[in-house]
Amino acid sequence: MTIHSHAKINLGLRVLGKRDDGYHDLATIFVPVDLCDTVELHTRDLGLSMECTRDDVPCDSGNLCLRAAAEVYRFAGGGGVHIALDKRIPVGAGLGGGSSNAAMVLRALPRLWCVDIPDDELHAMAARLGSDVPFFLHDGPALAGGRGEILTPLNVRLPWWIVLVTPGIHVSTAWAYAALGTREWQPDPRLDLLLTDAVRGGDSAPLLVNDFEPAVFERWPAIAEMKRRLLENGAVGALMSGSGSTVFGLFNDALEAQAALAEFAPGQVLGVTAPDFSPMPFTPRG
Ligand code: C5P
Repeated sequence: MTIHSHAKINLGLRVLGKRDDGYHDLATIFVPVDLCDTVELHTRDLGLSMECTRDDVPCDSGNLCLRAAAEVYRFAGGGGVHIALDKRIPVGAGLGGGSSNAAMVLRALPRLWCVDIPDDELHAMAARLGSDVPFFLHDGPALAGGRGEILTPLNVRLPWWIVLVTPGIHVSTAWAYAALGTREWQPDPRLDLLLTDAVRGGDSAPLLVNDFEPAVFERWPAIAEMKRRLLENGAVGALMSGSGSTVFGLFNDALEAQAALAEFAPGQVLGVTAPDFSPMPFTPRG
């Protein structure tokens, strides 16, 4: 069984406050993008194992794919699978690659093993694995609250070409949250309303805020520099995704997006997503 596992960007990310459980409440808009890994599931007699095309990705219980498989295994009371992961989404890049891979295992493995897992149970498993994982159980943009797991699908047509560039820096999410320190927390910024306004051609500037940018840009000025170059080269908006280090630019037309990409070294370019992109409907092959 072969599944495409898409990355996401955060079209705005506000951290609203620190919680008693150590996590932070946030408001963000997750948007799927046209950059993906491939997850292959191969039936085996009993037990869980995996391999990956990249040496720096762990293939033990530190990998979210195997932890997702373990959740399904526990529910099913047994089973066997070997997971082969072809990795193109950079790691520690704010693109949710590991979370997406885990969600694809949660979606596909019950089919492979012919186990029926109720939606609320699947969502609970996803939330246990990580704050970004529940988003990838669905396709299409969503407003997220709580620690990222409370989702409201957004029925919007995004008008922009989305250009992704990376400086190849690994930013730890836990470090980025810790770097926020104690600050004055803010009320809910209603990102969904800001997005609706921006899509209609209104002033999108207030939307394009990511609360991680100040600390991350101070530590790695090269990331701020990439954002500046996107804006200088015609982006109507540009922002770091998640806790970094990927930066995306929003462009009103394809030619401008391509021209901007030419400003970056080939190793820095992760791709372009067309307006209103949606991942293929979830149809595992094989
Ligand atoms: O949920 P996930 O495992 O992806 O989170 C990684 C780390 O990021 C957490 O251990 C926590 O330090 C931080 N985090 C947070 N608030 C969130 C999400 C993540 O403080 N909403």
